[in-house]
Amino acid sequence: MYTQAMDTGPKEERKAVRSAAEAELEARFESHIDEGDFIEAKDWMPEHYRKTLVRQISQHAHSEIVGMLPEGNWVTRAPTLKRKAILLAKVQDEGGHGLYLYAAAETLGTSRDQMIDALHSGRAKYSSIFNYPTLSWADIGVIGWLVDGAAIMNQVPLTRCSYAPYARAMVRICREESFHQRQGFDALNVMMREGTAAQKAMVQDAVDRWWWPSLMMFGPPDGESTHGAQSARWGIKRISNDDLRQKFVDATTDQAKVLGVTPPDPLLKWNDDRGHYDFGPIDWAEFWRVVGGHGPCNRERLDARIKAWDDGAWVRDAAMAYARKQTMKKEAA
Ligand SMILES: [Fe+2]
Ligand SMILES: [Fe+2]
Repeated sequence: MYTQAMDTGPKEERKAVRSAAEAELEARFESHIDEGDFIEAKDWMPEHYRKTLVRQISQHAHSEIVGMLPEGNWVTRAPTLKRKAILLAKVQDEGGHGLYLYAAAETLGTSRDQMIDALHSGRAKYSSIFNYPTLSWADIGVIGWLVDGAAIMNQVPLTRCSYAPYARAMVRICREESFHQRQGFDALNVMMREGTAAQKAMVQDAVDRWWWPSLMMFGPPDGESTHGAQSARWGIKRISNDDLRQKFVDATTDQAKVLGVTPPDPLLKWNDDRGHYDFGPIDWAEFWRVVGGHGPCNRERLDARIKAWDDGAWVRDAAMAYARKQTMKKEAA
């Protein structure tokens, strides 16, 4: 009792002092955000800001590496050497994006192993779009055009994200995503201009399957988005889900006309008053089903990632042994 009583006073005082200091730090942080300044890894930040960023950046990193799987599936079946070289480069870029992003998330104090474990145990999510299968070569073109196209719309505002290491990673990623989008459009354009009737039908079929899942990539409608308001306040999310989705529909509907394909939406129509295309309702039940683990390929994707991780254990062990040897050599010298 005595010891406890002795402890109470100073501890409470310390707590009060800490709280005042924390309040000052928080006020300084908020004013940095209001002025549009970047936050660096060494800067003080509220715990909730840190957690929000770790969740978002690691989900983004997981999406990049899981996103390699549906396309990697077509590397051996690309129709020409040129298309194979482009696809290989693109899939490799996605692996690089994953690495920049894991490194950005690590600056917030979460280890790579923790993030990988969260993915493999199903606790962490990745973009639901990668749970759909790639059934034909046209799917590879449509992924570039629509999926990478949607990724760019989502990611360009992130180059101005308040957390500087994330913003810097996004600058480089966006440059590469732009190449991904163009190569997809180009592959489809060649098929639509010079292809046989069967190849043109293959493109239309791929557009029919990927159109709606691409619109879902922007996330739930603004009213139902749980993290939207706080992320906007902190300068993590600068444009809302619905505004980005509208921007994407406006851009891709015009591109579809150039390609000569028809998006599978009978309600897609230019609205002069709004200055935008109107579009039909999105099947959010399907979105939540896929996010919840019941899409066409959820199990397959996760199994492939876990197998790749297990198969690569010897490479990680060898790299660690080599690093240890180098350190010992340096110390001995
Ligand atoms: Fe990427
Ligand atoms: Fe990409």
